Amino acid sequence: MSGLFITLEGGEGSGKSTIARLLADKIRDTGRAVTLTEEPTGTALGKRMWEMFQARGAAPVSPTAELLLFEAARAQHVAEVVRPALERGEVVVCDRYSDSSVAYQGFGRELGREVVIQLNEVSTGGIVPDLTLLLEVPLEVGLGRAREANEGGKAVDAIGEESLAFHKRVRDGFREVARREPGRVVVVDATRALGEVLDEVWGVVKGRL
Ligand code: TYD
Repeated sequence: MSGLFITLEGGEGSGKSTIARLLADKIRDTGRAVTLTEEPTGTALGKRMWEMFQARGAAPVSPTAELLLFEAARAQHVAEVVRPALERGEVVVCDRYSDSSVAYQGFGRELGREVVIQLNEVSTGGIVPDLTLLLEVPLEVGLGRAREANEGGKAVDAIGEESLAFHKRVRDGFREVARREPGRVVVVDATRALGEVLDEVWGVVKGRL
C-alpha cells in the first residue's frame, strides 16, 4: 500500500478532532489527496452502532460487548474507508483508531491490553498507523473542555460522562501505548493554543509526507 496512515488519539477534550481537520487541510495544500475520517462514526454502520450504544437505556452494555461493538465498527471502517484510501495512495487522517480501544476498553474498562490487541489485529487486518499523534492534556483541562463543549450544545457521550478514575485509567493506557511504541507514537502537549499545537503536529507530519 502506497498511502500514509496517520491517526490522532487522546482523551476527552484533547482537541483531536479540530487538529485532525486542520492537519488534513495543510496536507491537501501540499497537493496530496487526503481522506479525513473518524472512529467509531466513519461509516454508516459505525454511526448506527454509536447511536445504538448511546441509546442503550437502562440496561448497561457489558464491557466485552462494548469492545466488540467498537471492533465491529473498526472492521467495517477499515474495509470501507481506510484500506481503499491507502491503496489509492492517499494520506489517511483518522480521528481515533485501535489505540482508543486499548486505552478505553483495555485500561478504562479493565479488559486488559492483550485481548484488545488480539481483536484489533482481526478488525484492522494488520493495518497499523505509520504515525500516531497522541494529544495530551491534564485530565481536569480535558474534561473541563468537554464540559464546556457540552454547554455549547455538544452532547456528552456515554463514555465522556464516566468517572475520573475511569479517565485516569484511559490516560495511563494511552501512555502505555506511547511507551511501548515510541517509533510510531509521538506525544504532543495539547494544553497550548491551537496554533502552537498545530505547528508542532505539522513539524512531525511534514517530514513523513
Ligand atoms: P468521539 O466523538 O471521538 O469523542 P471525542 O469528542 O471525545 O473525541 O467519541 C467517541 C467516544 O468513544 C469517546 O468517548 C471514546 C470512545 N471510544 C472507545 O471507547 N473505544 C474506541 O475504540 C473508540 C474508537 C472510541
